[in-house]
Parts: sequence; structure tokens; C-alpha cells
Amino acid sequence: MATATRLEDWSPDSWQRKTSLQQPVYRDGCALERAVLALSRLPPIVVSWEVDALHGQLAAAQRGEAFILQGGDCAESLDDCSSERIVEQLKILLQMSLVLVHGLKRPIIRVGRIAGQYAKPRSADTETRDGVTLPSYRGDIVNRSPFDAVSREPDPELLLRGYERAALTLNFVRALIDGGFTDLHHPEYWDLEFMRHSPKYEEYKRIVESLSDSLSFFESITGRPMHDSQRVDFYASHEGLHLHYEQAQTRYIQRRGRWYNLSTHQPWIGVRTAGLDHGHVEYFRGIANPVAVKVGPNSDAAYLRELARVLNPERLPGRLTLIHRLGAREIESKLPGLIDAVRASGNEVLWICDPMHGNTETTSSGLKTRRFDNILSELEAAFRIHQQHGSHLGGVHLELTGDNVTECTGGARGLSDGDLARAYRSTVDPRLNYEQALEVAMRIARQPVGR
Ligand code: PEP
Ligand code: CO
Repeated sequence: MATATRLEDWSPDSWQRKTSLQQPVYRDGCALERAVLALSRLPPIVVSWEVDALHGQLAAAQRGEAFILQGGDCAESLDDCSSERIVEQLKILLQMSLVLVHGLKRPIIRVGRIAGQYAKPRSADTETRDGVTLPSYRGDIVNRSPFDAVSREPDPELLLRGYERAALTLNFVRALIDGGFTDLHHPEYWDLEFMRHSPKYEEYKRIVESLSDSLSFFESITGRPMHDSQRVDFYASHEGLHLHYEQAQTRYIQRRGRWYNLSTHQPWIGVRTAGLDHGHVEYFRGIANPVAVKVGPNSDAAYLRELARVLNPERLPGRLTLIHRLGAREIESKLPGLIDAVRASGNEVLWICDPMHGNTETTSSGLKTRRFDNILSELEAAFRIHQQHGSHLGGVHLELTGDNVTECTGGARGLSDGDLARAYRSTVDPRLNYEQALEVAMRIARQPVGR
């Protein structure tokens, strides 16, 4: 059965007529309704013209004229909404983007996994320990991670707490950017203190110096400061998993005659919830935001063609991003078919590679990790395969932190399984630490991009 694309059949809550996976079960339906109503009356976190501006930039990336750097925590936590964490996340993304600007010689669009990345899909609805079975932890916007019945009960009030933390986070990000934190004339402000000891520091410093030289050169030739370079755009994204949360922040913009999800600039659908006839695709098809969908090794050609038709019936450039996360082992065999399938449909998408989620493994001591070499190898294969198939990779999607954690193995310091316990802080997936993230940026900066 072909899925409908007519917007007349859509409303912010039409997803409720479909099966929606990975949704928490709330014991008190009235409390959920109250929270959703309260959320729908609060001001939006982002505004429609910012969403439209990102849409335009994604269209440029789809044409090969810009490159997307999307990254951040696997899951944000409500307790960890601190100025240090936000500054560190912003700094590492900015530093990486400097490295990318230098190497790729094109605008870099920065999109954080930030200000709303609070809901997580889980492989099972319940978790059993020592004979006790409780609901799985689904992220801080749903329940709490300690293994006791009270913590694990889904709590609708957390939707409001998540909204508030998202707003506080983005408010601080905006203030930092407006206040000159990202001024290219002072890239030294962007240094992370501990980065000075990194094996990659000298290379990073050379790139920054070369960019500062180019900027001074430009300004002395033209006799005027390069204002546009003093400010960088920064956008927010999160997995639009919790459909009540997303619905509550969906607003009709009269001027545009369309509904926008104003909880974030670009929401994405995770690989577990992207069924064509399910609630997430139904909700996403009706919003005017640019949207993304994760694509895994089980997605086939027929699925992708239909997905592109349903989510982008008007074939608008920049509207649909496909984030492939195939794993280093499967990318060679799977990606060519996916590229060909979309091309054969006559629809165009923006392709982004997530080299994290297809490369997760568990160590003998039970910790989730990812090997740096697998991450790099998937990334390099992605650039090469797109180019060989007359396509191009328009960006990367990474789980990273500006913090000095030990969650992924390998990298310039050669972290081993034995090092992981030292500073393993993620409650969900393992992230690149600041050095590994910078090293990835340096490797990407050497790749062929654009058409
Ligand atoms: C994620 O991005 O954290 C995630 C769960 O990804 P995926 O849907 O690709 O597994
Ligand atoms: Co993750």
C-alpha cells in the first residue's frame, strides 16, 4: 500500500493513528495530556526563519557547495546542563569546523546533537537484573537511569524539564556566538586547555595560524574587516523520537502556510523507528523543517525510494538528508545500491555518513566501544564510494565530546580496551573524545568532496 503524501490528511497528531515504536507507556494518561498541553503553550525553542535558513544551507550542501558537520553527545542529560559542557561541545565542533574549512575549502554548516537530544531508542522495553524486571531507561526526558521502580517509571513532567534544559542550552549557545566567542580573529579563545598536550596540537595550531594569515591578508587587501567571518551559524538537531514532545512544539506559521517543528532546526528519525507506515514517518512528512533519516544495512532500494517519495514529494533540495550508518564491514556492499536506488527514483537527497552506529561492539568486560580505525575506514569508504558512483558525501554525523573521556579505542594515543574504564562517562553510546574528534576532522579535511 502506498503511503499518503497529501498534506490535507496530515495534522500534528495524525501520527497517533499509526503504530509508533519506542514510545514510553505512561501510567497516568491525564498527566501526559497536561504536560503536552503545557508544552504546546510555551514559546518555541527555535524560529521558522532559522529553520528555513538551515534548509537553504542543506540545499547548498546537496549541490556540493557546503559540508555538514553534525555532532554531539549520544544522549544529553538533564543534570549535565552546565556552562562547561556546553562550552566544550561548542568549542570542539568549532575547532573541527576550522580544520574542515581549511582542508575542504568550502563553508561548513555546524549542526549540534544538542538542546533536545534526550530520548533514546532501546533494544528491549524492559530490563531484568537479579530477577527484577523494570522498564528500560529511555533517556532523561522519559525516566531516570538508576535501576529502581520509581526511577524507571516514565514521568510526563520530564517532558517539561527537557524542554527547559533545551531552551537554557540553546540560549547559552546563542549568547556565546553573539558575544564573539566564535570570532575568527580570536581562534585562540577556542582552545581547550588540555588540548595543548595532544599529539595533534601542533597540526591544529598550524591550521589556525594559516587561517588567521588568510584573514589578515584579505582584510589588508580590501581595507575592511571581514564581518561575515566573525560570526558562525550554529544549528540544533535531535532524534525526533518522542512524538508527544515533538507534536507539542509543532506550530502553524501563518506567513509560510506550513507547520514547523520548533523544538529544533533539523529533527531526524532513528533507524529503529523509520518504518514507512509507522508514526514517525507520518509525523515527519507534515512538518516543513529539513528532516533526516538514519539508514542502516537492512534498508533496501524499494524502501529508500518510497521513503524519499513520502518525505519529499515536492523534491525540494535540502529537505531530506539520509544519514547512512552501515558499519565498516558492510558499507562496501550496501552503499552503492542505496545511492543507485535514490538516483533511479529521480529524487535527490543530501547524503551524510554516521560512522559511529554501525561500528559499536562490546568488550570482554561488557563496555560498549567503537574502534577508531573502523570509524575512519567507514568514513573514507563513504567518500570514495560516493565519488565512484557519481554522487558526493555532503557531511558527517558523529558522537563526540569536548571532554577528555575514554570511550572509543584507538586514535593517536592508541587507547586500548584496558584504558576504557579510566574515564568512561557515557550512559549510552561511546563518543570520540576531543583528540579523536580533532583527528577525525583532520582526516576528513584530506578527502575529495563536492562534484
Ligand atoms: C543515535 O543516533 O544515537 C542512534 C540511536 O542512532 P541509530 O538510530 O542510527 O541507531
Ligand atoms: Co548513539
